[in-house]
Amino acid sequence: MNKNIFIACDTKSTKKVKKIIKETQTKKLKIGYKFGLEFLNSKHGRLFISKIKNKIVFADLKLHDIPNTCASAVKAIKDLKVNYLTIHISSGLDALKAVKKVSGKTKIVGVSTLTSLNNKKLKQTGHTKSVKNLVIQQAKLAAKANLDAIVCSGHEVPYIKHIFKKEIITPGIRLMGDKSKDQKRIMTPKKAFENGANSIVMGRSITKGHIKKNIQRLIKSLN
Ligand code: C5P
Repeated sequence: MNKNIFIACDTKSTKKVKKIIKETQTKKLKIGYKFGLEFLNSKHGRLFISKIKNKIVFADLKLHDIPNTCASAVKAIKDLKVNYLTIHISSGLDALKAVKKVSGKTKIVGVSTLTSLNNKKLKQTGHTKSVKNLVIQQAKLAAKANLDAIVCSGHEVPYIKHIFKKEIITPGIRLMGDKSKDQKRIMTPKKAFENGANSIVMGRSITKGHIKKNIQRLIKSLN
């Protein structure tokens, strides 16, 4: 399995996305582009994505709804022919199965527990399990639904690798010294890959400041 770097294009500006794509071109990394709620909901975002050619495209829709609505949303976005699409595992087994059934060639990615949550913040939402144990449970469900990939922080990867045997994608990635901001379970790119992640998601550590320099920092940090 190749190591992918998904760059989170978290902006509503198509100009900024063009800049991100242009300045992250390198032969040294396998890069894909992740579009989340901000860009997908922006005025020109969807059309822009429909015109992207020869790039790995990751639609971070983060579906979280009843099975029929989730499956209908997957059908509605089908024309974009994205490579990856996300659904919260907490949507439940039936929703995960329903989405898989209609997904075609798009890889369905199950989002476990958001990397912006730690044990304390998770407890506030009513969960009684620790983050680690909840992610383990979610990995089992993702495997049962035969999802193509799972999202979790680098901290849980070693515990779920033997449970979920397909692609593991890790956000909450920071280059050494970068601020965690709203993320709680963070890790460096190198450590995440060492822990067993197949792919990482990088947003602000790459897209804020000097993008080309940040890509060079990333390449250097992986050596
Ligand atoms: O800027 P930063 O690197 O923190 O961005 C992380 C990206 O990954 C964001 O686009 C966020 O929506 C996404 N993500 C995440 N945690 C998850 C799933 C997705 O941070 N569990």
